[in-house]
Amino acid sequence: MRTYDSNIAPCTDCRMCRIQQGCSVEDEMQEIYSYLEVCDNVVIASPLYFTELTGSLLNVGSRLQTYFSAHYFRHEEPLLSRKKGAVILTGGGFGNYESAYKTAVCLLKSMNAQDVFSAVFCGNTDRMPAKDNKEALKAVRRAAEFLSSP
Ligand SMILES: Cc1cc2nc3c(=O)[nH]c(=O)nc-3n(C[C@H](O)[C@H](O)[C@H](O)COP(=O)(O)O)c2cc1C
Repeated sequence: MRTYDSNIAPCTDCRMCRIQQGCSVEDEMQEIYSYLEVCDNVVIASPLYFTELTGSLLNVGSRLQTYFSAHYFRHEEPLLSRKKGAVILTGGGFGNYESAYKTAVCLLKSMNAQDVFSAVFCGNTDRMPAKDNKEALKAVRRAAEFLSSP
C-alpha cells in the first residue's frame, strides 16, 4: 500500500479503543486491520524526510494506536498473526537513518512483527538512483530471503 494514495485518516486520539476493540474511523484502514490479523510479513519502506519516515506514513502508523490500547488500557491481546518485518529506507544523503528505523521498528512491533530484519538503507539517491545501487539491491535480496525463510 502506498500511503500517499490511500484514504486513511490519522488518529485523532478519540480514545474509543481505550474501552473497546477496533477503531471508530471507518476508512481503508479497516482493510489493513483485517490483513494484519492473517499476514506473514510486513515491510515498511520510506524515503527519509528530515531523518524520519514520511508524514503520510506516520499518519497511517498512528492508527496502530488501537493495538497499543488493547495491551495498555484494556489488558487484551490484539488479534494479530505473529509475523516478520523489514524496513527499507532511502535518503538523498548518506546517514542519519537511525531515528526512522527506530520508528519503523516501533510500528512493526505494534503489528506483532516479532523478528525484524536490520535496516536496508539506500543513501546517496540525490546522485545515484536506488535501482543502480548494487549494495542496496543485495541488502533487499537478503531481506527477501529473511522474510521467505520458515
Ligand atoms: C521534505 C524532504 C525531506 C528530506 N529529508 C532528507 C533527510 O533528512 N535525509 C536524507 O538523506 N534525505 C532527505 N530527503 C531526500 C529524500 O530522502 C530522497 O529524495 C529520497 O530518498 C529519494 O527516494 P526515491 O529515489 O525512492 O525517490 C528529503 C526529501 C524531502 C522531499
